[in-house]
Parts: sequence; structure tokens; C-alpha cells
Amino acid sequence: MGQSIPLDIEALGRRAASMIEALGAISSSPDHLTRLFLTPEHRRAADLVASWMRDAGLGVSEDALGTVRGHWWPAGEEAPRLLLGSHIDTVEDAGKYDGCMGVVLALLAVETIAKAGLKPAYGIDVLAFGDEEGSRFPTTLSASSAIAGVFQPSMLVAKDADGVSFEDAVRAYGKDPADIPSAAYDPNRVIAYVEAHIEQGPVLEVEDQPLGIVSAIAGASRLSVTVTGEAGHAGTVPMRLRHDALLGAAEMALAVEKIAKADRHGMVATVGRVHVDPGAVNVIPARVVFTIDLRSGSDSSRRDALTRFEREAHKIADHRGLGVVISAFHEVATVPCYRDLEVRLSNAVAELGHRAPVMPSGAGHDGQAVSKLCPVGMLFVRCKGGVSHNPAEYASPADMGLAAAALVRFIERFELPKTGSATGVST
Ligand code: GLV
Ligand code: MN
Ligand code: MN
Repeated sequence: MGQSIPLDIEALGRRAASMIEALGAISSSPDHLTRLFLTPEHRRAADLVASWMRDAGLGVSEDALGTVRGHWWPAGEEAPRLLLGSHIDTVEDAGKYDGCMGVVLALLAVETIAKAGLKPAYGIDVLAFGDEEGSRFPTTLSASSAIAGVFQPSMLVAKDADGVSFEDAVRAYGKDPADIPSAAYDPNRVIAYVEAHIEQGPVLEVEDQPLGIVSAIAGASRLSVTVTGEAGHAGTVPMRLRHDALLGAAEMALAVEKIAKADRHGMVATVGRVHVDPGAVNVIPARVVFTIDLRSGSDSSRRDALTRFEREAHKIADHRGLGVVISAFHEVATVPCYRDLEVRLSNAVAELGHRAPVMPSGAGHDGQAVSKLCPVGMLFVRCKGGVSHNPAEYASPADMGLAAAALVRFIERFELPKTGSATGVST
């Protein structure tokens, strides 16, 4: 097993906590945390991360979608690279740990390794992506797609709630959309991508373990459903003569709930955004646009559910004399994590005296896009009460210190094979 770099796990945890507090203070609102892609808040968070990277002795660059890259290349620029990182965008009224924690832990691990004088035959890039949540545009994982070389130019025309296009937002951020293709890594030069992330669920807490290993990231579909009816006077149109778009939408929301509940692969469905027109107290709703986020560890049951929902929605619309149009704006398949990385991460955790349960991730992650580039592995950190996408989200400094230490052990033990695959990992 060789020597081990001495680790002060408590100090790593304390530093992680204070860096996460500093990032958590960068928000568009003084009273809650919201930091959307390509906004002034994103700029400030990216600058803070870049300054930490420089302080840690890393070279820093930024690509055309604002992904901050901290480079540690002890074997030179040409050597293959291990990618570590996560995202620095948030949902609205977010917790501080989702995403930021993975960037901070990666940075602390690489700094620890570099300071210890280790000279592996590969380099490390620490990445801070800006569009994992998909909270600003009806797109998601655009930054990680760009580094994987699978950015879809159709994303450029997507508009945010204020009507600003993705393309204009890239320009306003000081970047050129024409440079997006050059964000892509050469797959022959990348070994793997490893991300630490808060679990966002209750399993590790229930199992009384600080860290877990992700076996797969569940596939997801996001739909926009537009229901059209007829506006009318709330006081004069009898119930039987109405074409109320909101009541149709409500029935459709219940239909998708029923479909998810009947699934045997732990499917989850969420109607998270509803827009009602004209939205007046005394007018029958004429038009409703709502979103559905549907996830499952089984891609075939997710596809079946989408077909069933479409059928149900049309049935409901016909019955109520409404129109309905359904369009998918995000679709990502289930991504299995690499077995070899799972084993290496488990071994790293075991060296610290813990058993890491292996579990699927119901939440989406940048690794879904990066899996198009290279093998992906993920380390989960226990989440208080399983609460996430909520300001109450919390991971303890002790658990975060252990996670940083596990990344250090993972990197320390990682070796490129003398011959064979360029990636150095196998399924
Ligand atoms: C991102 O956090 C998602 O899973 O929606
Ligand atoms: Mn996240
Ligand atoms: Mn999230």
C-alpha cells in the first residue's frame, strides 16, 4: 500500500466549512442563497474559487461557459489527467453544500497532495461547473457537456425567465459562444472524473456512515406541459360549461403522481413550476404551463411512464375540452458509475476506518454529462436529515474532513497502468 500522507482530518473539515460559508454568502439576494448560471453572482463565486486555486499553487483557466479549471500538472501538460470537481450554481433559496462542497473538497485534496510533494505520472484538473441545476435556462449540464464535447448548440437559443437567451448570457459573461467547442477535453488524455457531493437523501444517516459510494446516477426527463382552455368570468360561467386550464393541469399532475407511485423502480415525479394565465382572482384560467421532472434508475420504465403520461394527459384534455402540448426539454439516461472507481473510492474510505455503503443517486450530477468523456465515480457525504435543495441543508465539518481525506487517499493510491488502456480504469 505504500506510505500515507499524514492528514489532519479535523483541520480539513474546518477549512471546508469556512470555504463553504464564504461561497454561500455570494447570492443574488441578501436573505437567501440563489446563484444562477452566468450571473454576476456566478462571476463572484468563480473569482473566489479561482483565488483559492491560485493560493493552493494551481494554475487557473476558465472556459467559454465559465467553468473554472484549477490545474496541477506535476508530470507536465501532456500527461493524462484526472478530473475532480462539482458545480457552483444553485437552485433558488438553496443550501450551501450542494455542488460547492465537491469543488472545495477537491481543492483541499489536491492542495494536500501537492504540498506533500507527491509527483504522480498524471495531472489533476479541479473543475467548478456553473450549470448543474438548470435553474436559469431550460437546459442543464451545459458546462459539463461542453468539457465532454457534447454541448448541444440548440441550447444557445434557450431563454431565461426574463427573456435573455443563453447565447446573450454567455456574451454578457464576457465569453464567446464560438469558443464553446474548445472547452472539450481530448478523451484520450483524460483518465476519469471523480466528484464528491452531499448525498441529498437520508440513507447514510440511517446507516450511520459518513461516506457512501455512488453506483449509478438515475436518468431523468423534464417536460413542459402547456394546457389551453378558455378564460371566462369567475362569477357567471357555470361549472359544467367551463374549460378551466388549471383544473386540467391539476388532474394531469395527479396522473403523473399515480404513474410514479405505481412504478417498481423507485420512480419519482415532481411538478415544480406552474404558471397560470391570466392569473387573476376572478378569471377562469385560460392557459397553464407546468413542468414535470421524472426520474428513475430504469430508463425503460421512465420511457414507459412518459408514454403513459402523454396518453393520460390527452385523455384528461379531451374530457375537459382543453388543448395540451407536451415537450421534453431535458433527457438524460441513467449513468452507471465505473466499478473500478467504486472499488478505489471504497478502499480509500476503508483506509480511514469506515465502511462506505454503495447506493444509487436519485439526484442529477455533472457526471451524467462527463460520462460521455470518461469513466465517472462519485463519493457521497452524509446529509443532515436527508434535506437538500433547502437552506437547512447541512454536512458536518467532521464528515467533510473525512471526505477530503478519502479523496487524498484515492489520489495517492491511484496509479496509471504501465501498459494498456489510456484511462487506467476498467469497468
Ligand atoms: C440537481 O440537483 C437535480 O438533481 O435536479
Ligand atoms: Mn448538485
Ligand atoms: Mn442540486
